[in-house]
Order: sequence, then structure tokens, then C-alpha cells
Amino acid sequence: MVDCKLVILGFGSVGQGVANVVAMKKAMISKEYGVDLKVVAAADSSTSAICAEGLDEKLLVSTKKETGKLGNYPEYGSDIVGIDLLDAVDYDILIEATPTNIKTAEPAKSLTLKAFADGKDVVTSNKGHLALFYKEMHEAKEKAGVEFKFEASVGGAMPIINLCQYNLASCGISSIKGILNGTTNYILSRMTSEGTTYENTLKESQQLGIAETDPTQDVEGIDAACKVVILANVLGIDATYSDVEVRGISNITLDAIELAKQEGYYVKLIGEVSKNGLKVSPRLVKQNSPYAIDGTLNLATVTTDLAGDITVIGKGAGSIETASAMISDLISILKLKY
Ligand code: HSE
Repeated sequence: MVDCKLVILGFGSVGQGVANVVAMKKAMISKEYGVDLKVVAAADSSTSAICAEGLDEKLLVSTKKETGKLGNYPEYGSDIVGIDLLDAVDYDILIEATPTNIKTAEPAKSLTLKAFADGKDVVTSNKGHLALFYKEMHEAKEKAGVEFKFEASVGGAMPIINLCQYNLASCGISSIKGILNGTTNYILSRMTSEGTTYENTLKESQQLGIAETDPTQDVEGIDAACKVVILANVLGIDATYSDVEVRGISNITLDAIELAKQEGYYVKLIGEVSKNGLKVSPRLVKQNSPYAIDGTLNLATVTTDLAGDITVIGKGAGSIETASAMISDLISILKLKY
């Protein structure tokens, strides 16, 4: 049996989900893969908890939920965060779950490059560094000879990146199109089914922990645009955020939704990477089409040369759901290296 020491940076909805899933699955991982997972540090934006022997994942979550700060973790609370924390702790894999910053990509970019430089593998749910600096991040990862996994960055629990990179490795992929943001799908579904106002449904999605820390990233299509860029790069297209034509849902009225409904359509925020370029915009979808999915569900249709169209649907946001993709990525590293 070997230890795998984890550091979780970012302890919002996703970071807490990771701690919870580690608690739920560590016995299975130990049995199946012969690896003992230990969370040796976790940090929010201003405080942390650090213990070389491993922290109690449930206590991390309850400390954060009840006191707002991981620094209040009994006995092992600390104020060391960010890059200083990565220097202070002996670890194997960085679980990077800080909020997406689409202007600077920080702190995710610096934290990830620091981990690479120290020879550590990284699993991320972040979209900023991938959408702005995909090539640079991957060059750094190659140079360091480490693993960099980011399934959770697109579609939460819905498998799409590993699907394209591994399961469809024999195929040429000409386009990926779909519903890539759970928050807007939730908002539009609720507006459609219950006539609830945009403002109320946005509040609900924040309470559910599915919206970004800055929810304008969801409603203005920024989050979906980041995902379109990431998918484009996965397909080998050298794209960045400024290459996406973006229109969000903030101008969609209840009247427009009602009118579409009477004509047999729903309004959905659709992201697309294809020969037509990279786009995010609200579009009408037929009520009986696969795109007529509700709530936080995401959908993606991958168009291939050998296998035709392949469509996946799954929960695109949520604490445990997003963490499930991160822990699957973690397991793929364990299989490769442990
Ligand atoms: N805010 C994002 C969404 C989270 O609603 O899809 C998952 O990336």
C-alpha cells in the first residue's frame, strides 16, 4: 500500500465536493488501486488546514461550512495559503479548485505552473488558465513530465474531454456542439416551466452551488465560451478566449420564452466549435429534440468521421457531480503512476 498525498486549493462548492468524495471513495480506492489517499492540506482564499498525517475530510467541510474559514480547523488551522502553501507541504497531487478568473487566470495559472515546476501532477476544475493559456499550460506540463487532467472543467460530471481524447482516439472530430452551462440551463428551464423571473432563478442557482463565484460569467455566456475554447484545444485547434463569439442570456425575456414555447421550441444557450468557428449564443431548439433537457443537465454532440454523432448528457454542475470528474481524473493518474 502506498500513500498519495493531496492538496486541495480552493474550498468552495467544488473543493468541498472533492473532500466529500474522497471521504466516500477512499476505502474503494485503497482496495481497488492499493493507494491510501491523504488530504495533507486544504486552503480557501485566506486560510488553510495542514497536517502531514492527513486531515479529516468531513471535518474540513464542516469547519468551512460552520465558520467560513478552514483556518478554524481544530489544531491544524493555518494562515499559509497559495504558493507558500505548496512550498510548505510535502504532497503528490494538487487538486486545483479555485474560482475561474477569465481576465488573469489567477491564482490557478501560477499555482498550476508552480506545481508543475515542482514535478507534481495537477487535477483541475478551473477554466481560466485553460481558456486563456491552454498551449502555455500544456507546454509547461510536457516540460515537467507530469500529468494535467481537466475533465471537470467542461460539463461537470458529463464526460467529454476524456471521451474525445481517449474513447474516440481513432476518429477525426469535426464539431462539438451543445449545452455547456448548467446555471443558464437551470435558469432557462425554470423560466420556461414556471414563469419564474430571471433574478429569482439566478439566486436559486447560487444557493444550489452551481453558479460561478461571479455569476455574470454564467449568464453572459463567458463560462460556456471558456468551455468552447477548451474543447477546441482538445480537438487540436489553437484557440483562445478572444476567438469566441459570445452572447449570453441576460436579455432573454419571459415573453420571448413563452412565445418560443407556443411555437414548439425552447430557448437554450448553445456552445459550438465547428468549421463555422467558436460560438456561444441563445438558440431555439425543438421541444422533442435531445436538446430539450432540464435543470443543471449539460449535453454535447460530438460529430466524428468514423462513428457518426455521439451525444452525451449529464449533470454539468454541482459539488459532488463536479468532484466525481476530478476523482475519476485522479484515479487515472493513480492507474498510470502508482
Ligand atoms: N457555473 C458552471 C455551470 C459550473 O453552471 O455550468 C460548471 O462549470
